[in-house]
Amino acid sequence: MGLRIGIVGATGAVGQEALQLLELGALSIAEIRLFASVRSAGRVRSFRRETVRIEEISAERLAGLDYVFFSAGASISRQYAPAAVKGGAIVIDNSSAFRMAREIPLVVPEVNAKELGRHPGIIANPNCTAAILATAVWPLHQAAIVERIVVATYQAASGAGAKALAELDAQVRQYAAGEEIRRKVFPEQIAFNVFSHNTPVDDSGFNEEENKVAQEIRKIFGEPTLGVCATCIRVPVFRAHSEAVVLETRRKLSAEEAREILSHAPGVAVVDDRKANRFPTPLEAAGKREVLVGRLREDPSHPRALALFVSGDQLLKGAAWNAVQILELLAAG
Ligand code: A2P
Repeated sequence: MGLRIGIVGATGAVGQEALQLLELGALSIAEIRLFASVRSAGRVRSFRRETVRIEEISAERLAGLDYVFFSAGASISRQYAPAAVKGGAIVIDNSSAFRMAREIPLVVPEVNAKELGRHPGIIANPNCTAAILATAVWPLHQAAIVERIVVATYQAASGAGAKALAELDAQVRQYAAGEEIRRKVFPEQIAFNVFSHNTPVDDSGFNEEENKVAQEIRKIFGEPTLGVCATCIRVPVFRAHSEAVVLETRRKLSAEEAREILSHAPGVAVVDDRKANRFPTPLEAAGKREVLVGRLREDPSHPRALALFVSGDQLLKGAAWNAVQILELLAAG
């Protein structure tokens, strides 16, 4: 018997990726249901040679499904995920709504798939930056115990959704046409600019994205005291986040050993060609399920620190692919 799967936020940047991954995947799917706002209701998508009509979300319509992906923002998840669970589904939630709830597992399959053994009907998919960082750092943590992570990010426009992606495209065209550059989604111009992540800043000076990265990495690793200092930045890239990372480890890890470990690590591809000056780029990472890792070097300013550079597709490993991996693991029992 095939699975009955729903996607909430099916017209969004992540929802569209999830639909495509399911279409290409090997899961046996008896029924796919697509949900979005009233604005999209009635539009159609094709899935494995069938035409699927997008439905306006409602609690009643979510009943009778086996798995539902949520990717329409935290307030929609809070409002409707409990109804989907009540209606018999397991929810894989891509929003921040439940990530830090104690009873809800926050899962990157390469790191903590074992957490899928206990859940109350909802499983949280991590923040995109945290998922990419976790995939790259976990194998090194297992080898040498990471005590502190300092990370600066270079985050793509599409991390803020389909409208933000369109805004970067529109601003580049406006610039090329010599027109006034118009802002709507981002608070700053995204074309030809770099700015601090567009989430609220707290009293300590960290923005919400930076706090999410720190809290979520600690939860995914099961390391409540792990030190994390993040600086999250938006850059004018369409797709894939990059991260400049410095790790302080309990045991010294040479660049060579780290490269060897990462070359066998699940979900990771090493791109580290010093001679050719070829390292991870968001363009190369875009569309890939693996996280690219390179620029591995020992920090000369610290006896046990390692620097690296990571690029990962935040719509795939940072969101839809991680969620589909979770679904595939659950479906396999
Ligand atoms: P819609 O396209 O109908 O607005 P993104 O993260 O790319 O911005 O996508 C957000 C997703 O969440 C879209 O699929 C969007 O649907 C959906 N969404 C936004 N607001 C609502 C709502 N009130 N009810 C249901 N879906 C919503």
